[in-house]
Parts: sequence; structure tokens; C-alpha cells
Amino acid sequence: MTTALMPNYGTPELEFDHGLGCSLYTADGERYLDFGMGIAVNSLGHCHPRLVAALSAQATKLWHTSNLYRISEGERLAAKLVAHTFADRVFFCNSGTEAVEAGFKLIRRYFHSKNQSQRNRIVGLSESFHGRTHAALAAAANPAHSNGFLVSDYGFDRAPFGDIEALRAVITPHTAGIILEPVQGEGGIRVVPADYLAAVKALCVEQELLLMFDEVQCGVGRTGTLYAYQQLGVEPDILASAKGLGGGFPVGACLATERVAETLTSGSHGSTFGGNPLAMAVGNAVIDELTTPGFLEQVVHSGALLRDGLQHLCDTYPTLLKGVTGLGLMIGLQCHMDAADLIKRLQQAHLLVVKAGGNSVRLLPPLNVSEAEISEALGVIAAVLAER
Ligand SMILES: Cc1ncc(COP(=O)(O)O)c(C=O)c1O
Repeated sequence: MTTALMPNYGTPELEFDHGLGCSLYTADGERYLDFGMGIAVNSLGHCHPRLVAALSAQATKLWHTSNLYRISEGERLAAKLVAHTFADRVFFCNSGTEAVEAGFKLIRRYFHSKNQSQRNRIVGLSESFHGRTHAALAAAANPAHSNGFLVSDYGFDRAPFGDIEALRAVITPHTAGIILEPVQGEGGIRVVPADYLAAVKALCVEQELLLMFDEVQCGVGRTGTLYAYQQLGVEPDILASAKGLGGGFPVGACLATERVAETLTSGSHGSTFGGNPLAMAVGNAVIDELTTPGFLEQVVHSGALLRDGLQHLCDTYPTLLKGVTGLGLMIGLQCHMDAADLIKRLQQAHLLVVKAGGNSVRLLPPLNVSEAEISEALGVIAAVLAER
């Protein structure tokens, strides 16, 4: 088939016509069990009634006015995020990369406002992923993503994941901040060890560096707390959020403490679409659902159920599978067999999952996945492995 699209996404053939909850359907009515959820985006599954109602109501009222005018839906969503996190202020944008970019700008702006513009370098960790702008690519420096794009280091340095002495060694008088994912997503579902994270925080306090968490993938209830840092014992100064926050509607958010946020003075940053009433209406509905009493406890329960089932399969097929990683419903199945081949076979058996780094398979079901859907997915994986 010829296409007018650029070739960056390849040429996928499978197309879906509609979705409901954990299921996707082709135009022919074939059902697939979706344990990828648009790569951790459809946090409440497809076409959740509360989100459909919020979006439909807003769509008949007002779509867009720009940030030239007050947007109360955004103020409401920001207040909820502040009430449930370390943050005092929120900036809304349209994607994870933009939320990360806003965080980088905050780090540099903070030191600029203190007449320390020479402190402008930011350290990222190996195997991380922060998005596709030049700065996000430079922070992660993964040649698979950055090849042919980076013409300088853009003010970023890198340290190997989990090695505090190596991190300390790259800090100079020019360093302004550190960015990391509390649970690496693209890198292969790796939880940052709590003692390493505590040491990173101590280093930031000692050197007066700003600490930024990229929770674009691991945030918004995915790990069983609203944000993953809340169970890892360390608070950041800045946090990037996106993906699940819109439940499928594009939205990003950069959260920060007051002392950092106050440096983003009027006119210093912006976005035409950021904080758009449609996105804010859906974001409010997502956060209201996630903060309903018992919701996040259910995520923890479902995550344990799915991980136990996968661990049982690892024990049954030790030559094919290596182990299970992750937190809550952000789960990595580490493979001995080729993960891409396993994903292809699972898709043929109508279970959708996503590849991640380090030869792993990512399982990212909706946060409201049922026990029956978890059993169904485990049954498909067991049957596919049994055929090998
Ligand atoms: C941890 C992390 N940061 C940033 C991004 C970029 O987000 P987006 O694709 O919405 O720009 C992603 C996307 O996968 C991500 O996983």
C-alpha cells in the first residue's frame, strides 16, 4: 500500500475500529485484549463512560479559547494535582515531551533567576527515555533515537543508571539538575532502587541541584500510587506527567514547587493548546476516578495478581522467560526468548502488549482491568508459550 505518511512509524497493518474497556475491535468485529493501552495512555480503558461524558459535555460547550483567557477547568485540575502531590504549581501542555521540556526550562530558569546562569547543565541516566525534542533526546542520549539529530550536547551530561558514585563524578559547578524516571519505561520497566534514589536526593540537597522526575509513563496511578515517587520515599522539585492523565486525550503537565515555579514569570513560556478546555475536562474526570476511595488499592491488587501469574509462567518456562519487573500495573516480562517474537505471537493470539528495552515485554493494562481479563491474558500467554 502506498502512503503519504512519513515512514517513521513503519507500515503497521492492524487497524482498530472501536474499543470498549480492555477490548479493541477491528472493523470485522474481531476482538483483541488490549494490555498495551496506547502505551500507558488509556488509563481507564477505551471509551470509559465518565470520560466520554466529560468530553461530550465540554465539546458542546467550548473547545478552545487560548490562555489569553481564564480556563477554570484547568485551574480545577491543577488544584487537584497540587492537593495530591508535592507540587505547588502546574503548567499544562499537550504531550510528555513538552512536559519534560518545560521542566528543563524551569531548571535553567531557576538558576538564571538567581544570577547563576553558568549553572545550566542537566544530568540524565543511561537507558532512559524522555521524548523526542532535541533536549529530551540529549538528556537520554540513546543513539537508537538520537542518531542524526543531535549537533551538540545541548547542555546535558549522562551517568549510568543506579551508580551513585558515577553520578557524583559527572556533577560540576555547571550542573543545575538531574532528571530520572522513577520507573524506566522504554528502558525495560526498571524500578529505580530506593536506596539509590535516596542517595540521589541527598546529592541534590548537598550540591543544591534541582531534582526532576519524569513520570510521563509511570505516573497517574500506573504503579498503584497517583505518582510512583510516592512509594519510593523521595520528593522531586519538578515532575513531568502526561500519557494516562488524559486517558487518551492529548495532555501534558509539568508540576513544580513554588520556589521553582515562580521563576516562570508571565510571558516566559507558553503553549497555544496547553490547558485546552477539552483536555482539562477529561483530565479532571481521570483524576476524579483515580482518587475515588479504593481505586488505587485495586490497582495494587490487580498488579500483584498479574505479576504472580507471570512469575508462575517464568517458573514453568525458565528457558524462555527470565523474570517479572515493575510496580503496580506497570509490568515488564523479561525474556530469554526474543521478546519481539513473543509479542508477535501474542498479537496473533489477539493479546496486545508492547516491546521495551533489554529484551522485555511491557504489560500495561487499563488501571481498572478485571480479574477475568487478567486471567484471560495469562491464559493467552500460557498457550503461546506452550506452543514453543
Ligand atoms: C518516560 C517518558 N517520558 C517522555 C515521553 C514522551 O512522551 P510523548 O510521546 O507524549 O511526547 C515518554 C513516551 O513514551 C515516556 O515514556
